[in-house]
Amino acid sequence: MKILILGSGGREHALAWAIAQNPKCDSLICAPGNAGMAALATCAPLDIENPAAVLAFAQENAVDFVVIGPERPLAAGVADALRGGRILCFGPTADAARLEASKAFTKEICDACAAPTAAYARFTDATAAREYVRGQGAPIVIKADGLAAGKGVVVAMTLPEAEAAIDDMFDGAFGDAGTEVVIEEFMQGEEASFFVLSDGQNILPIGTAQDHKRAYDGDKGPNTGGMGAYSPAPVMDDAVTKRAMDQIIAPTISEMAGRGSPFRGVLYAGFMIEHGQPRLVEYNVRFGDPECQVLCMRLGGQMLDLLLATARGELDKAQVNWADDHAVCVVMAAKGYPGSYAKGSEIKGLDCADADPMVQIFHAGTRVDGEQVRANGGRVLGVTARGATLQQAQQRAYAYVGKIDWPDGFYRKDIAWRAL
Ligand code: AMP
Ligand code: GLY
Repeated sequence: MKILILGSGGREHALAWAIAQNPKCDSLICAPGNAGMAALATCAPLDIENPAAVLAFAQENAVDFVVIGPERPLAAGVADALRGGRILCFGPTADAARLEASKAFTKEICDACAAPTAAYARFTDATAAREYVRGQGAPIVIKADGLAAGKGVVVAMTLPEAEAAIDDMFDGAFGDAGTEVVIEEFMQGEEASFFVLSDGQNILPIGTAQDHKRAYDGDKGPNTGGMGAYSPAPVMDDAVTKRAMDQIIAPTISEMAGRGSPFRGVLYAGFMIEHGQPRLVEYNVRFGDPECQVLCMRLGGQMLDLLLATARGELDKAQVNWADDHAVCVVMAAKGYPGSYAKGSEIKGLDCADADPMVQIFHAGTRVDGEQVRANGGRVLGVTARGATLQQAQQRAYAYVGKIDWPDGFYRKDIAWRAL
């Protein structure tokens, strides 16, 4: 098969690595890709948020299967265009992608199927929203309804913070994403992510993970896209997983199907778990990054079979072969991230893990410059290792982080420590 992966981050490099191992993959194109993907695939420039351009590219290149990595192309209707053009693809329609693209829509779905989640109210007007938070008190959570690259959520510990967040959002801090605001009850507990594939009807769990959103050790500093992750997440034990499936995931999938908008793709649920009871924090309609890196590390080449079964509506025939292992990903980011940072510094030692099948150095923000690889983003690398135990995976990941020669980067030194 000729396969096209859309995206340019660590998530897409990990998918490319897993897919390239599967004998069904004869040829791989990544658009736009990055320096890491260039070693496995042909990288092609393409406006991946333009559905017509993606369809035309897939047709011109006789692509058999398209895997859509990020949320923005999904919300823009790239999967709809590909399906319309009879090209097999992995990823939900724009309508079903509202489970991520609209927080108010997700709340509506939870209401309709009685899925446990935070109590909430929706607003299109700052005055009413401010009045509501004064009535509720802090802590309270303020969310821009639409896609805001993971930045549209403010967990306000005080009322002035909450009111400032409301004003920011209605003043356009997140553009159109903030024309509606969802205000939620603050939930306590431990967070975990749960990944399931669905072909619209059947559901197949493919793993759990926990990420580390804060920039610095000890969960301090500003929020980021994720500074590291580990899988599995011990808090998602069998009992919690069963409740999550029965009370949240299965009802959501059947509610979407009942509305004539079946969800086909990966549903990434963020839960808050307290006293063994999961409650939904949010849905994403794509793999998490860096969570995808640990999932791909654990699943390997079977990932392609699972994605194909999802796209073909044959998940009832698919199964996951678990290795009973653990994986840890340590993100190396440019100094200054998530604030302003410099691009272009050289990274050396990237071949240090070439001989170790238990480790992969996934590229998130890199570019090739002649013989050199240069940093080209905030999150730059994901050093991802497997192990028979979480501790082994963690030690292995950090051993290789230490071999990478990149003075302009930084990383957290405590990824997975909480679980250990
Ligand atoms: P999100 O972008 O929706 O994942 O939110 C970012 C982070 O904000 C989550 O990972 C949680 O840590 C936190 N968060 C979101 N909603 C709530 C809530 N209702 N209660 C407590 N924390 C929340
Ligand atoms: N790591 C969080 C996300 O991908 O949304």
